[in-house]
Amino acid sequence: MSNNLLKGKRGIIFGALNPDSIAWKVAERAYEEGAMLIITNTPVAVRMGETNELAKKLNTVVIGADATNVDDLNNLFIKSMELLGGKIDFVLHSIGMSPNVRKERHYSDLDYNYLDKTLDVSAVSFHKVLQTARKLDAINEWGSVVALSYVAAQRTFFGYNDMADAKALLESIARSFGYIYGRERHVRINTISQSPTVTTAGSGVKGFDRLLDFAERMSPLGNATAEECADYCITLFSDLTKKVTMQNLFHDGGFSNMGMSLRALQQYEKGLHKSCNCDDPEDGHKYD
Ligand SMILES: NC(=O)c1ccc[n+]([C@@H]2O[C@H](COP(=O)([O-])OP(=O)(O)OC[C@H]3O[C@@H](n4cnc5c(N)ncnc54)[C@H](O)[C@@H]3O)[C@@H](O)[C@H]2O)c1
Repeated sequence: MSNNLLKGKRGIIFGALNPDSIAWKVAERAYEEGAMLIITNTPVAVRMGETNELAKKLNTVVIGADATNVDDLNNLFIKSMELLGGKIDFVLHSIGMSPNVRKERHYSDLDYNYLDKTLDVSAVSFHKVLQTARKLDAINEWGSVVALSYVAAQRTFFGYNDMADAKALLESIARSFGYIYGRERHVRINTISQSPTVTTAGSGVKGFDRLLDFAERMSPLGNATAEECADYCITLFSDLTKKVTMQNLFHDGGFSNMGMSLRALQQYEKGLHKSCNCDDPEDGHKYD
């Protein structure tokens, strides 16, 4: 259902790889709410994924950009303003990748070249997007920039590895840049800390199925879906949230404020009756 919340607004959406991607749902909802969009992803993702199909569906184009490459970002903002006919009103940064997670490097045995890549792709790219936009004065007054985060930035989660450090940095960049861009141009910058969600990136996390089930049992409202995340993004891009900035906003059904729920406790009690093989990596003890 459309409320025309983004009518006439121009947006750039990073990170739509396939229909499971959170960015995909955000793009669809933003279009439904009347926005004009540019879709972007890495040239490799555009070739291998389904990004072009999304652009076709939303009557727009894909501009390839590696978000770690400032030249690509310059080109993206300049071309987007040309094609959309003016400055940008909102940006979604929905980007995450860790070679240490992919290669199953333990957190106490990180490959530091991989760590550099994790931080650059998943966090510093957010700074690069903001710095590029500011230098080009590419974002309209009262514009809105949102990046997606995860509660592992604040609390330790088995298997999340160096992505936890990347998310902590991402949230810090939202605060630090939010101050500067807010003061100068009234541009607001926030992160949304989303529930575990079944996507290509999400499913790469060790023990993801069990994490999803645990979070579902712990959250009084249940896990937030990608579609619900898209709805929340729309409110942040709209003029209804003009004074919200520099925040990390939990969108997780209440998970982040829970200690123990009845549903999780009941499941845990059932599990206690089974024996645990502590030498089995699947039980987690070797990899915690
Ligand atoms: N899925 C979850 O459980 C979950 C939970 C909380 C937060 N998040 C965050 O949501 C965001 C989107 O992830 P998703 O779950 O939709 O998975 P996804 O795999 O669909 O999206 C990740 C995107 O990042 C893009 N990307 C990777 N490297 C890039 C680069 N150098 N430049 C530009 N784009 C690049 C990929 O091409 C892909 O489109 C990520 O920041 C992720 O950490 C996901």
